[in-house]
Amino acid sequence: MATTGTSYKLLAVDDEPMALRMIERVFSAERDVDLRLVTSPAEALEIAEHQDLDVVISDQRMPEMTGLAFLAQLRTCRPRAHLILLTAYPELEVVLHAINSGLVYRFVLKPWDLDDMRVSIRRAMEAKRLADDHERLTAQLSAQFEELVRAERLATIGRLSAGVGHELANAATPLLANVELLADEVARLRELFRKAAQAVDSAFKRESLDQLASVTRALQARKSDALDETLVAVRAAGSQLQLLLQGLKRVGRDAPEPVPCDLNQAVLSSVTLLGHRFKSGIRLERDLSALPAVLGRGSEIAQVVLNLLGNAADAVEGKRVRTVRVRTWEAAGRVHLEVSDTGPGIDPAIRTRLFEPFVSTKEVGRGAGLGLSICKQIVEAHGGSISVESEPGNGARFTVALPAAA
Ligand SMILES: Nc1ncnc2c1ncn2[C@@H]1O[C@H](COP(=O)(O)OP(=O)(O)OP(=O)(O)O)[C@@H](O)[C@H]1O
Ligand SMILES: [Mg+2]
Repeated sequence: MATTGTSYKLLAVDDEPMALRMIERVFSAERDVDLRLVTSPAEALEIAEHQDLDVVISDQRMPEMTGLAFLAQLRTCRPRAHLILLTAYPELEVVLHAINSGLVYRFVLKPWDLDDMRVSIRRAMEAKRLADDHERLTAQLSAQFEELVRAERLATIGRLSAGVGHELANAATPLLANVELLADEVARLRELFRKAAQAVDSAFKRESLDQLASVTRALQARKSDALDETLVAVRAAGSQLQLLLQGLKRVGRDAPEPVPCDLNQAVLSSVTLLGHRFKSGIRLERDLSALPAVLGRGSEIAQVVLNLLGNAADAVEGKRVRTVRVRTWEAAGRVHLEVSDTGPGIDPAIRTRLFEPFVSTKEVGRGAGLGLSICKQIVEAHGGSISVESEPGNGARFTVALPAAA
């Protein structure tokens, strides 16, 4: 392929040596042309087998075969070469047909003069170079375009799987935390059984009865519904996981029909799921009003509340006053949810990008910066909006508004 800076590869075939010598004269002073001259089409085909060619010039009338027959054969091994035919007037019709069928690039009528020949061949060489450049650039462009499409597809898959992983972790973390609590409760019950068995084995000796009584009292002193609460939280986490997995199975299919959902219910199940965090000294204030239903997908609405409450719990960590407040109300045909906290407020550095994916001020491993982008996507898919108010040092207040079902 001739590209800028390399010489043009030119091959001329004519059974008359005299004609070849004239072609040689045309290019004797031109340094950018690498010219080969042969008297036989067979020899020319042999050369074409092994060498790239930009332009091939052939006489039409040769004893071995016609120029057109030769060029047709040459075309099969050098399809990109530009072909020029030297012909006499009586054969013009045949040659025109060859030009129209795309075989021959141009013809030169005999007898030709040196300057005309130089111009004809120059044009052919330049056209060939332009065609090569065009092909190279087109190939480059299409490779770059494919690379872009691939990168975008990978980025989309990356975002998608990061988002899915984030929400699965939101449900799996409470599940594991509550299973640990459950294990503690089971250990206490085992101890109670052991003491009871010892009492039976010792035929209710005083000492073993005292031990049984002390274990029983310790259990009674615990909040009697601790075990129930833990069980409820395990079930809630399990069913949130199940809903997310059902959602995953539906990926690529049409979204399921929205059904009437209760936002308060989503708040309650999220509070249950995050119970393990609110037990550790964070005060949770609830102010829930009776609400009309919202049309939507329950597990997604729970995801929104879960992310906002999780962020609020993160925000108050290490603060002297650790309060998270969740409020719901209805106004103007919309159902509202507000989650506020006594944390440090939104970092001004990320204020304008808060709802974009992968924006986080948390340390690696604690925050992927996905929660709020997922919230925004879900809320908007439900025809609602999400906003935030915050003053540095004065906590943050997130508000979600969703259209109430008619
Ligand atoms: N209640 C809040 N108070 C202060 N800053 C907040 C609050 N909620 C969110 N932010 C800020 O917004 C950032 C983005 O929140 P987002 O929930 O999208 O991601 P994340 O919590 O950092 O990580 P992830 O949710 O993926 O675990 C947080 O890193 C934090 O800086
Ligand atoms: Mg978050």
